[in-house]
Amino acid sequence: MQLKVFKNYQEMSKYASQIVLDVVAKNPQCTLGFATGSTPLGLYGYLKQACKDGTSFRDVSAFNLDEYVGLDASHPQSYKYFMQHNLFNELDILPQNCHIPCGVATDLQAECQNYSKQLAKHTIALQILGIGGNGHIAFNEPGTSFQSTTHVVQLSPKTIADNARFFDSIDQVPTSALTMGIGEIMKAQCILVLANGKNKAQAVFNMVKGPISTSCPASVLQTHPNCIVVCDEESASLLN
Ligand code: GLP
Repeated sequence: MQLKVFKNYQEMSKYASQIVLDVVAKNPQCTLGFATGSTPLGLYGYLKQACKDGTSFRDVSAFNLDEYVGLDASHPQSYKYFMQHNLFNELDILPQNCHIPCGVATDLQAECQNYSKQLAKHTIALQILGIGGNGHIAFNEPGTSFQSTTHVVQLSPKTIADNARFFDSIDQVPTSALTMGIGEIMKAQCILVLANGKNKAQAVFNMVKGPISTSCPASVLQTHPNCIVVCDEESASLLN
């Protein structure tokens, strides 16, 4: 695990964007794994600018990590809406190459199986990840098997409370989600974890220095051969 600490959010986002752009430059037909949440927004800003400046994502395929159950693409808090409005609409990526699990599928189990099947046809060159306050990656909550594939998950009270800030009230936060499994995330050739802010300091510490345990899902990343953690000073403040 490589750790890069930056003075602030802008600097870490810029550095992270260079990692993504290098992967695309090396293989314009690569598959990228994208994440939602507030953390990657700075990085996405730099990717949109790079596209305006001439980098093409036309041949890139995208797989997203997760989606809330019950929210469709028109809901502003759905991850489909998030990706379209915060990134994809301003890239020249082709809509048919952008994959996000469908949270309103009538058969959620079948949707998970289908997502895993699509994913298995690709090798993710670079997976972008955020980290939850409880150490979750994607929506793999504490206790999730490190071998898991795409599945339906009941969100923990901590995750629901953390994500309530995006909704009018906590009652509106979906209580379940579809998420790529940890086993699938770990297959990425390179994993880029982003974290910023004091409220992530304990999770970052547990990910980097804690025991490798399902009680902190992100700790599995210590066993990945090519994982880069890019964070700001506040989120790294518990590390020496
Ligand atoms: C959500 C997402 C995760 C994300 C995490 C952190 O629960 N499912 O993929 O990493 O929140 O979000 P934020 O970046 O807003 O702190």
